Amino acid sequence: MKILITGGTGFLGRLLAERALARGDEVTLFDIAVPPDGLGALEGRVEIALGDIGDATAVVDLVKGCDAVIHLASMVSAGSEADFDAAMRVNIEGGRTVLDAARANGPATKVLFTSSLAVFGGSAMPEHVDGMTRPVPQNTYGMTKAVMELLVNDMSRKGFVDGRVARLPTVIVRPGKPNTAASSFASGVIREPLTGVESLYPVPLDMTLCVGGYRTVADGLMVLLDAPADAFGDDRVVNLPNITVNVQEMIDATKAVAARRGIELGPFTSAPDANVQKIVGAWPVSMDAGRALALGCPGDTGLEPIVESFVADYLS
Ligand SMILES: NC(=O)c1ccc[n+]([C@@H]2O[C@H](COP(=O)([O-])OP(=O)(O)OC[C@H]3O[C@@H](n4cnc5c(N)ncnc54)[C@H](O)[C@@H]3O)[C@@H](O)[C@H]2O)c1
Repeated sequence: MKILITGGTGFLGRLLAERALARGDEVTLFDIAVPPDGLGALEGRVEIALGDIGDATAVVDLVKGCDAVIHLASMVSAGSEADFDAAMRVNIEGGRTVLDAARANGPATKVLFTSSLAVFGGSAMPEHVDGMTRPVPQNTYGMTKAVMELLVNDMSRKGFVDGRVARLPTVIVRPGKPNTAASSFASGVIREPLTGVESLYPVPLDMTLCVGGYRTVADGLMVLLDAPADAFGDDRVVNLPNITVNVQEMIDATKAVAARRGIELGPFTSAPDANVQKIVGAWPVSMDAGRALALGCPGDTGLEPIVESFVADYLS
């Protein structure tokens, strides 16, 4: 299979590229930039194309001849909240550009889009949402994702593309530096102490979060990419499996893994941030993932295996 991954040099793009290469796919990563420390083990095994997702000519050229596009390029939550116009340009106009390019390539072109639990929100939102809970996003990022969900659904219904949408929980543990996602601390609270750095967590210890381990999220995305079109029925949007944890449990799991592995941890420090609390506090604490599980997406069994995998994959 020939696959284009937009936003491909980012966290999930690299994980998906590894999985696609491992089964013999041909992969091109399209992104605005390559990280300063390079692409590690992907170097030389993928095509790299640099550019902006709004460059329709470049995107049409890159999509031509592909069997699938995994569309990840996006501004994330705090960044989108800070700059509405940029979020509209990158997340919605960029998304439309990708869908139009896939449509021009042919109706069998698969488009896998990553939405987010941030589509949910509002005072009437239940803590546990299911596939039929109405998205009422309380931030610009979530709004852009909700718009794209509808667009992918309708362009699939029309037979323009073969779209599929994964609603992701907060994915942990992101390696490297924090990003501008409001939920970035959910990785930082595990990653920073394990690398001897102070962890500044901006929310109360008992704040609950809806998270997924990066291995299961990446594996789940590949399952959705491969699923037959008719498995989605008339709704292409699927909540990925997730677990509900609070910050104290994340700290406890990090301490347990560190103790087992003899890792000396950096300190955990409370640093309240009202903006982060407002954005993250508006999200659901769990999403029903019955459809994803039925399609074969894996789920996490707890926090410690996620922390263990992070140590094995990124710190060894
Ligand atoms: N990681 C999570 O916790 C999470 C949760 C929910 C949804 N998502 C979604 O999954 C996708 C991938 O997430 P990620 O964690 O890998 O993010 P990331 O920030 O690591 O990767 C996104 C990539 O998009 C690129 N990009 C941004 N603007 C661009 C533009 N104008 N043109 C071309 N490329 C551009 C960035 O350079 C980056 O490499 C995103 O759409 C994100 O919204 C992620």
